[in-house]
Formats: sequence, C-alpha cells, structure tokens
Amino acid sequence: MSERHRGKTAVVTGGANGIGRGIVERLHADGANVVIADIDIASATSLAEVLGASVAAIETDVRDEAALTDCIAQAVDQFGNLDIMVNNAGYIMFSPVVETAADEWRRMMDVNINGIFLGMKAGAQQMIAQGKGGTIVNASSGGGRKGVPNFAHYCATKAAIIMMSQAAAGELAPHRIRVNCYTPGHVETPMMSGLLDKIAGAHGTTRDEAYQALEDEVPWGRWGKVEDVAAAVSWLACVDAEYITGQCIAMNGGQLPW
Ligand SMILES: NC(=O)c1ccc[n+]([C@@H]2O[C@H](COP(=O)([O-])OP(=O)(O)OC[C@H]3O[C@@H](n4cnc5c(N)ncnc54)[C@H](O)[C@@H]3O)[C@@H](O)[C@H]2O)c1
Repeated sequence: MSERHRGKTAVVTGGANGIGRGIVERLHADGANVVIADIDIASATSLAEVLGASVAAIETDVRDEAALTDCIAQAVDQFGNLDIMVNNAGYIMFSPVVETAADEWRRMMDVNINGIFLGMKAGAQQMIAQGKGGTIVNASSGGGRKGVPNFAHYCATKAAIIMMSQAAAGELAPHRIRVNCYTPGHVETPMMSGLLDKIAGAHGTTRDEAYQALEDEVPWGRWGKVEDVAAAVSWLACVDAEYITGQCIAMNGGQLPW
C-alpha cells in the first residue's frame, strides 16, 4: 500500500487472528518486516507462509516474559532491528462480578495487563539498546474508558493499559521511543463473534438483534473492520506521527465518550 515502513521491523502480539492479523497484513503491505507473536502458532504460521519471507511466526505467550524477550531476539536476529512493537494480544469474557471466579479474574489480569506490560518492557529494552528510538502501540478498548456491565474485569485491564501507556511515554521520550494506545469500538473478529451469543442470551435477544443493537450505538452506522484499526495503527507507528506520544486514540466510528 505504501513504503512508509520499508526497512523497519515490527513485532505484533496476537497477530495470528482478528485485529492483530489485520495489523500484520497492513504493516507488511506498508513495507515492514513483521514477526507474528501468538499462542496460536498454526494460524500464525499459515499467515506468515501466505505473506512471504518478510513475515515470520514465533509461538509466544505474552504472559511469559522470557518468551517475549526471546521472540524479540529472534526478530532482531532475522531482520536486524526492532522498530515497532504492537502489543495487541488480549481476550474478553462475559462474566458478571458476582459470578467471576478469582482464577478467571487473575487470568484476565495476566493476559490483558501483564501481557501488554511485559511486551512494552521487552520492546523498550531492545529499542533502548539499539539507540535509534522506536514506537510502541498498545491495544486498549472502549471498555477502558467506560465501564460496561458484565465486563468489569476486562474494563479494568483496558483502563490500566491507557495509564501504563501514558506513564511509559513520558519515561521513554528521552530515548525517542513513542508509546500510544488505541481504543477500538465494536470490530468484527473471532473474539466478538464468540461474545455475541452471550450478549444475546443475557438480553433475551437473537444474535442478529444483539449485533444490530451494538451497531446502533455507532454514529458512523456500522461495526468496525479490522482494516479500519490496522490502517490507523500503521499510521500511528509511522514517522508522520512523530510528535504523537502518550495518547489514546479512539477508533470507533464516533462513539462518545469512548
Ligand atoms: N474486536 C473488538 O471489537 C475489540 C474492541 C476493543 C478492543 N479489542 C482488543 O483488540 C485486541 C485484539 O482483539 P480481537 O478481537 O482481534 O481478538 P481475537 O480473539 O480475534 O484475536 C486475539 C489474538 O490474540 C491471541 N492471543 C490470545 N491470548 C494470547 C496470549 N496469552 N499470548 C499470545 N497471543 C494470545 C489469539 O491467539 C488471537 O490470535 C484485544 O486486546 C482486544 O481486547 C478488540
């Protein structure tokens, strides 16, 4: 699509499916070498095979700091640098407060908060060592700006990502490392597909009615596509956005206050 990331290398966590997959495809189309870091190694590998030699797949669980560090080391070995770190991996569950087991809460914190923090840490360490700056982009959510019933656990993690991105941006600016995050609205992905039946069940509607009700919340009049988010992330990671750091960018078709 463009040459804006020619010669750059990106690592995308959770890049095998959904929004992360869209980000991998877009960064690749914009000229970057891309490493897909995902627990779903089968999907990651088949995507890398389709995209070609400038894309690699490495099995990585973002809860595991050593695995993330190793993934980045392999990316640098193969492509020579780390310039863009996209911490996208995350998941959602529908679970009212009083029904959420402590272990489910902890798992949510582990993947959605620790996974983003450890990815940000490992990426920043590598970029500082290289001494050439870089950019880190973290996936938050509209649920990080507005509490959504039955998602207290998820909303807590996504609010944390906004704060950790802001804090890290100030800390890493002297190294010319930018840190931003973004809040998608409703985006058609495997994650949201799995959720629709639960939302429909809770509201006594059909799946189609649940889809429509969410669409009705969007002033732009449609759900988001992974391409919408991927295009904005690619821009946020590029040199044209050099003066943007510590920000949280909503990508949601005009939903407010998200
Ligand atoms: N889809 C939406 O509407 C939406 C809205 C707001 C925010 N988000 C956020 O965007 C991100 C991607 O969402 P999605 O809808 O594409 O999800 P998805 O479930 O479709 O894809 C998530 C990917 O992350 C991977 N993953 C999960 N746990 C992992 C782990 N521990 N280590 C490494 N990889 C792991 C999965 O294998 C999968 O490839 C998430 O952080 C999500 O919270 C999504």
